[in-house]
Amino acid sequence: PLVSVSELLWKAEEGGYAVGAFNANNMEIVQAIVKAAEMENAPVIMQASQGALSYAGLRYITEMVKIAAESTHVPVALHLDHGTDFAQVVRCIRSGFTSVMYDGSKLPLEENIAMTKKVIEIARPIGVSVEAELGKIGGTEDHIYVSEKEAMYTDPDEAKYFVEQTGVESLAIAIGTAHGQYKGEPKLDFARLAKIKELTRIPIVLHGSSGVPDEQIRKAIELGVRKVNIDTNIREAFVGAMRKVMAEKPDEIDPRKILGPAREATVEIIREKIRLFGSAGKA
Ligand code: G3H
Ligand code: 13P
Ligand code: ZN
Ligand code: NA
Repeated sequence: PLVSVSELLWKAEEGGYAVGAFNANNMEIVQAIVKAAEMENAPVIMQASQGALSYAGLRYITEMVKIAAESTHVPVALHLDHGTDFAQVVRCIRSGFTSVMYDGSKLPLEENIAMTKKVIEIARPIGVSVEAELGKIGGTEDHIYVSEKEAMYTDPDEAKYFVEQTGVESLAIAIGTAHGQYKGEPKLDFARLAKIKELTRIPIVLHGSSGVPDEQIRKAIELGVRKVNIDTNIREAFVGAMRKVMAEKPDEIDPRKILGPAREATVEIIREKIRLFGSAGKA
């Protein structure tokens, strides 16, 4: 069934594990996520970015996920990833999303607080959960010095203030992860994470999690991360499988013969992540 994200995250909080949030851009990926969740008997979050919505269309994404959720026994949530536009956040809620991220991380603190509150005001009465972002989670392609990177990290005292002011359900933080493929090995700032958790006591969200070594993911979950976002690893598995088929069978013209193996490869990577996050068997 289709469920809200807060429900999943509070259970994860009690159980000390994290729920995987996987970016869905097309039908094959939606099907792969739900299949993996079923095989692992795990709750799962499907998330669509603004890019996914403009690629596939809001109604297509919503209806595909609804069909997937309604035809399975595992809990499935539908979440907007990095919503930066208030009007679009509203459209997603109206369309049936059970959760939205309002990403005001590029705004000055007080504006981020004001906008996050505005989103919560319309979402909470109808049971839609809200994730906010504080600090700046960069892209791996951003060329920034380490000292500057740390300036973008989430400040624990500011996180406490932000959560008190907004009452937000979950918080995405910057502790050294980045979106996309890493060049070197990321080193997460665990002391900062522990401090943020201690001061906020709410489910913490880790973005840019593809490419973070398993050990560091486990440690982050031990310290209070309850939602782990994965996109790049899906892209790698999906497109990697497509490339393999096309290299082996250059004359293949049936899209199903190319996208079918891509879907299967996606199921496998998602199952691995679900087990890593400790959410297997928690449906
Ligand atoms: O947070 C970024 C996600 O990987 C989504 O990427 O905006 O290209 O869909 P996208
Ligand atoms: P990765 O692409 O690095 O897995 O990050 C995904 C993400 O944070 C989506 O919000
Ligand atoms: Zn992200
Ligand atoms: Na990443």
